[in-house]
Amino acid sequence: MKEQLIKLEQEVLQELEKASRKELNELRVKVFGKNGLITNLSKGMRDVPSENRKEIGQLINQTRSLLEEAFAKKEQEIENAELEKSLESEKIDITEPSKDIKIGALHPTSDIIDKLTDICVDMGFSVVEGPEIETDYYNFEAMNIPKNHPSRDMQDTFFITDEILLRSQTSAVQAREMEVRKPPFKIVCPGKTYRNDSDATHSPVFHQLEGLVVDENISMADLKAMLSTLMKRLYGEDTYIRFRPSFFPFTEPSIEVDLSCPTCHGKGCNICKGTGMLELLGAGVVNPKVLEMSGIDSKKYRGFAFGFGLDRAGMLLNGISNIRSLFKNDIRFLQQMKGEKK
Ligand code: PHE
Repeated sequence: MKEQLIKLEQEVLQELEKASRKELNELRVKVFGKNGLITNLSKGMRDVPSENRKEIGQLINQTRSLLEEAFAKKEQEIENAELEKSLESEKIDITEPSKDIKIGALHPTSDIIDKLTDICVDMGFSVVEGPEIETDYYNFEAMNIPKNHPSRDMQDTFFITDEILLRSQTSAVQAREMEVRKPPFKIVCPGKTYRNDSDATHSPVFHQLEGLVVDENISMADLKAMLSTLMKRLYGEDTYIRFRPSFFPFTEPSIEVDLSCPTCHGKGCNICKGTGMLELLGAGVVNPKVLEMSGIDSKKYRGFAFGFGLDRAGMLLNGISNIRSLFKNDIRFLQQMKGEKK
């Protein structure tokens, strides 16, 4: 019996040595299966005289565990070899040039937000944000536009309830910031705004950039210098601006700022409809009432504010004629924006 076991052990180990994964599985059945060699030996214990049973039983068990270990070891070896092979064959050459990766570009509106805020940060402004779902108070009342005031009609607002709305202007952020900041401060706030308006140059969702400076001795001259620098840096040194009187309840005096057309440089073209100028933003000296409502001493401090239509500004920078292109989410449109550097 002992010899039989040793022989079995040697034969199995030999076969195991050169076995593939498939052969290993077959061999496992042959040895440990229902009718396997070891199994049959165990079954044969019945015929072993009882005085030898203990010894033979031990020997069989020894052989079984030795073989089990050998099988496990072999299996691990096969697995390692397979892994190595697949690592080798699936090796990725990261230095190889890629075939066809489609790269889009920054959306023109994101691009203009980045450019404008970068310039403003250079000038010492902090960038802040406010909520798009806003209260009537911040959007209107704190901006000196009381309920039922006719100037509310300047903006066709989406109301959610009587008191909650989709902000129609980033000016709402002015009041929020004035409440929490101590003058002097300079902030710009880019973000989405909403009005019930829709044609080639108006979209129900659009973007504005609000600017607010509060300090002592602020005047219209500061506003002009700041906006002029901003526009020159954005559209080029030969850009100039023009002020026209206007009206906003939250600024006094109020102005509309026109920009020399970046396409024809003031000569007149189809973009500026032959006028050489483009209407770009509203601005003015902050109405003292607005300062007072937000807890700022209007005897000591003054401010200027401006509100910029960002989509329009981005369209001008990139020669886009229809505002809807900005919201269509068409990858071909974005790809045309690639490499635009101005
Ligand atoms: N909030 C105004 C608008 O949306 C623009 C503006 C901002 C005007 C700040 C003056 C000062 O039309």
